Amino acid sequence: MDADIERILLSHDQIQARVRAMAGEMAEVYAGSEQGLTIVPILSGSIIFLADLIRDLPLKMKIAMVQVSSYPGTATTSQQLEMKSDLGQGLAGRDVLLLDDILDSGNTIRHVQKLIRAREPASLRTAVLLRKPAKAPPDVPVDFVGFDIEDAFVVGYGLDFDDHYRNYPHIGVLRPEMSS
Ligand code: IMP
Ligand code: MG
Repeated sequence: MDADIERILLSHDQIQARVRAMAGEMAEVYAGSEQGLTIVPILSGSIIFLADLIRDLPLKMKIAMVQVSSYPGTATTSQQLEMKSDLGQGLAGRDVLLLDDILDSGNTIRHVQKLIRAREPASLRTAVLLRKPAKAPPDVPVDFVGFDIEDAFVVGYGLDFDDHYRNYPHIGVLRPEMSS
């Protein structure tokens, strides 16, 4: 895998430290939650982020996964959204925390935020590990951001290209020739 990565943008250690700090921020925000927390991770990109984050979050919680894909196959620019599973029932009256790996065009999160709001949660907040500020639209509110990064196509720590590289422990820029 290393040979396919042009350069490492964020090391595994940097990511771990930041995720732990994000869990601390969230623990404060949700400490007084009486409704109960439901985390809604967007699959598959948020799996590693989710696994690390929730083990640092000592709160009673439910997890309701949702699968949306905006980059089917080998595309590296935003395509039509593909919803592969629907949100289960039970978000009404809950404190909902939507989780995704990256905020790029914002289409994915905008779409899922709308679906969640329609289920009338007590509150809705959104957390992303990465944000590309050059593109992130102002109409998609996010409450927790791990890192602002440059507008490059990155893989690792859950982020994929054609479903590869999710297990790469760092976050790195993919060699352009690998995605062409
Ligand atoms: P958006 O809908 O354009 O904001 O894209 C969000 C989704 O596209 C994320 O959940 C990722 O799965 C994927 N994505 C966006 N940028 C990248 C990237 O640089 N590397 C890998 N996946 C990405
Ligand atoms: Mg993806």
